Amino acid sequence: MLRRVTTSTFRFSAEFVTRRIIFHNASQVATCTGPARGRRGAEMQDVSVRSDVAIATDGPTIAAVGPFNEIERDFQDAERVDCGGRIITPGLVDSHTHAVFGRARYDEQELRAAGVGYMEIAERGGGIHSSVRDLRERSDEDLLQLARQRMERIARYGATTVEIKSGYGLSLDAELKTLRVIARLQDECSIRIVPTWLGGHEIPREYRARTGGRSEYIDQLIHEQLPAVIAERLAKFADVFCEPGVFTLDETRTILESARSSGLQLKLHADELEPCGGAELAVALGASSADHLAAISPAGIQAIAASDTVATLLPGTMFFLGRPRQAPARELLAAGAIVALATDFNPGTSPTPNLPLIMTIGVSQLHMSVAESLLATTVNGAAAVGLAGSVGQIAPGFSADIALWDCEDIREIPYWYGDARCAASWCRGEPVKALV
Ligand code: NIG
Ligand code: FE
Repeated sequence: MLRRVTTSTFRFSAEFVTRRIIFHNASQVATCTGPARGRRGAEMQDVSVRSDVAIATDGPTIAAVGPFNEIERDFQDAERVDCGGRIITPGLVDSHTHAVFGRARYDEQELRAAGVGYMEIAERGGGIHSSVRDLRERSDEDLLQLARQRMERIARYGATTVEIKSGYGLSLDAELKTLRVIARLQDECSIRIVPTWLGGHEIPREYRARTGGRSEYIDQLIHEQLPAVIAERLAKFADVFCEPGVFTLDETRTILESARSSGLQLKLHADELEPCGGAELAVALGASSADHLAAISPAGIQAIAASDTVATLLPGTMFFLGRPRQAPARELLAAGAIVALATDFNPGTSPTPNLPLIMTIGVSQLHMSVAESLLATTVNGAAAVGLAGSVGQIAPGFSADIALWDCEDIREIPYWYGDARCAASWCRGEPVKALV
């Protein structure tokens, strides 16, 4: 379902064939049209639902949105997709995942249920460290095959753009191995993949164990991993897990300033478990997003609200970790922050590929409206990965990324929680998940 034709002959010829599609007979189209940037404040209440329109795509782009008779007249040779009274949204954007990893870590779920904390599991050599040991031993092919299956699962729930971080390698070789796997996914998948280098996900155990190890690893990040990532053009973003017990504010600043000077855009895992000024640092560095924020301080809320840094909330993580506190979405929204929602899909803290489920948690636990939760997974997710100019809206000129849902009303997407209601999807005008 996700594979593009990969032989060069077909691939190149396919790029010159302009596929045109008319989508008609949808009961609602949530176009999410508006400014081509992250939305905030009152803008978050309007997803521009149209109940009387058809959509025409021309190659990878949306060409027209309007009355069916006009679209039919102007696109006579186009294929037709009869939506059968279902609803359409922009293809969803999952702007924060760690989708390249080896084994699942279901053993930790029971430990946490028995009262062992996330950081305590990490100190015992579990958590990120256990995924690192596992990933380092796996071949590229093995990781690619696992990642492919995981992309299929993510796509099945309606995402057509997915950010993927490295961060379970934590050595030059293993980080490059991960990012090359992500690059191969970008080449072969019909969905759009955005790569992020997260060499600063943890201090590897071999460095933690010795005096001076922390600064040696940071040197390796800046002087070995980063130049190699740049030389092979393997990442658009750099990210660091800024958290007491992992990377300090100063260490995070040092790593990210180097990454920015090398041309990468920035993200931070910030204020996830303990408040430490991560959101403020993200704003000061001009980061595209600060992610998690379950423990953001009042000063952090004000800082991010006054900036263009997207506040990416990952409520599936707090749900799965069984933590009592979710990110203060209402305060962030009221203060005027650009809020996005993402899965944080990873083996330790959020093993779900289901972005609509995250919308459900957004509405039911973070008290967001349905419109806010949809904009948080389309336009604002696109802003978090630097793509708000071309992704996240059903409007002429935007990428033809479309999700068709087995629903009659957009409010059903977060309502049927956990259900797989995405009936079909298209990315850049090409089918990802076929309509059956
Ligand atoms: O986003 N917070 C840090 N990283 C991941 C968890 C990684 C893991 O436990 O494997 C997260 O939650
Ligand atoms: Fe994460």
